[in-house]
Amino acid sequence: MTMEEKTLKKGVKSESFLTPEQIVAHLDRYIIGQTEAKKAVAIALRNRWRRQQVKGRIKEEIYPNNIILIGPTGVGKTEIARRLARIAHAPFIKVEASRFTEVGYVGRDVESMVRDLVEISVNMVRQEKTLLVAEKAKQYAEERILDILLPPAPQSIGGSKITETTETNKTTKEKMRNLLHQGKLDNRIVELEVARQSMPFIEIFSQTGIEELSVALEEAFGGRFPKRKKKRKMPVKEALRYLQNEEAEKLIDMDEVINEARKRAALSGIIFIDEIDKIAGTGATSGPDVSREGVQRDLLPIVEGSNVMTKYGMIKTNHILFIAAGAFHNKKPSDLIPELQGRFPIRVELFSLSKEDFKRILVEPENSLIKQYIALLETEGVKLEFTRDAITKIAEIAARVNESTENIGARRLHTVMTKLLEELLYSAPSITRKIKITSRYVNQKLADIVKDVDVSRYIL
Ligand SMILES: Nc1ncnc2c1ncn2[C@@H]1O[C@H](COP(=O)(O)OP(=O)(O)O)[C@@H](O)[C@H]1O
Ligand SMILES: [Mg+2]
Repeated sequence: MTMEEKTLKKGVKSESFLTPEQIVAHLDRYIIGQTEAKKAVAIALRNRWRRQQVKGRIKEEIYPNNIILIGPTGVGKTEIARRLARIAHAPFIKVEASRFTEVGYVGRDVESMVRDLVEISVNMVRQEKTLLVAEKAKQYAEERILDILLPPAPQSIGGSKITETTETNKTTKEKMRNLLHQGKLDNRIVELEVARQSMPFIEIFSQTGIEELSVALEEAFGGRFPKRKKKRKMPVKEALRYLQNEEAEKLIDMDEVINEARKRAALSGIIFIDEIDKIAGTGATSGPDVSREGVQRDLLPIVEGSNVMTKYGMIKTNHILFIAAGAFHNKKPSDLIPELQGRFPIRVELFSLSKEDFKRILVEPENSLIKQYIALLETEGVKLEFTRDAITKIAEIAARVNESTENIGARRLHTVMTKLLEELLYSAPSITRKIKITSRYVNQKLADIVKDVDVSRYIL
């Protein structure tokens, strides 16, 4: 095992050792408030790790603590789940429960969420492995480029690929290598044999979720499309990247990737089921509640634990962590069928965000909107600043618009900021080096819009 492999392995492992307190601290870096919800997901994550440490048969009996997050829109439900998955290096997928009630959902079955999760897991593991072999792949790619730039000396042609090169040839090669490292050959054009993407549309389809189609197609074509080759000219820089990918592919054992990915999806995968309240409702004998209850019944075996067939093989869903979320305005978790309620024993409430929360959300998170805009403009050498008063004002406006139109929580900050900075983002490159956003500026840009509810409904 190389040093790099070791650190990567250790990294992944130590992350899953995080205590609930450490997990909450991690989440605090991105999400303001909502402590109860953070604690609940932290415990669930830790419990799953605890389960894996359990010896003996009881291990099989321990199921994940699935959670229902209850709270209005835009208060951090999805964000908490997403960040949790990142912390745990866990495959994560978000689905809308209501999607499964749509007319014509027949075939777009509930199990597809598990198949999508595995797909994500495979990509995740493949990326990690690619990283592990990156150095080696780069070396191989470099050798191949040098061979193209500097064909072996005449006497060695016809022999095997690696032949004794003459001394002079060697030194030239090393000279070339230096030039390559210095980037001096980047723009030189070379000709490569590249694989022709025979059916690129499959990628597009599978990303939008019509995965059954790609499964069907793959089966029809016997699993793999023949890779047709064609010659292409490209600059050395691009060729290096292409060859590095190709070499990495050869260095990675896909069977191993798939095995690990299946395991990871099954043992640490997280499925986030949004808008679960939209499928709540029981006892109806006709009308939309019938299909809602139907979806709950379809969901049940997956949450209870069953085997789902994916194109990478069978996956057991017993230990996948399910985090459901919903506003539950005029429904309650007890409107779900009892069996499903039983599988979501933990319920936590998330709270509406106040003006004060907005102020913090604007500045504190590592990815806060203000930090994002500062970073964006910095790329053009423009220094963007916000006064305290300006931030207070923005928070106030967001809170006010939420009250007067529709409460969309922290999402309102996005629309307010976009409108506030629109003009500036348009003209920044040509006018200034330094811009200070004051409360006066905020007023100037937004006061009129905020005053008129109808206008703000459309603009903010
Ligand atoms: N408590 C919070 N702290 C920081 N950002 C938040 C918070 N709540 C929401 N956001 C931001 O608002 C947006 C929507 O949040 P999200 O979690 O998707 O809302 P929902 O509760 O509807 O799932 C995201 O960009 C998120 O970063
Ligand atoms: Mg959401």
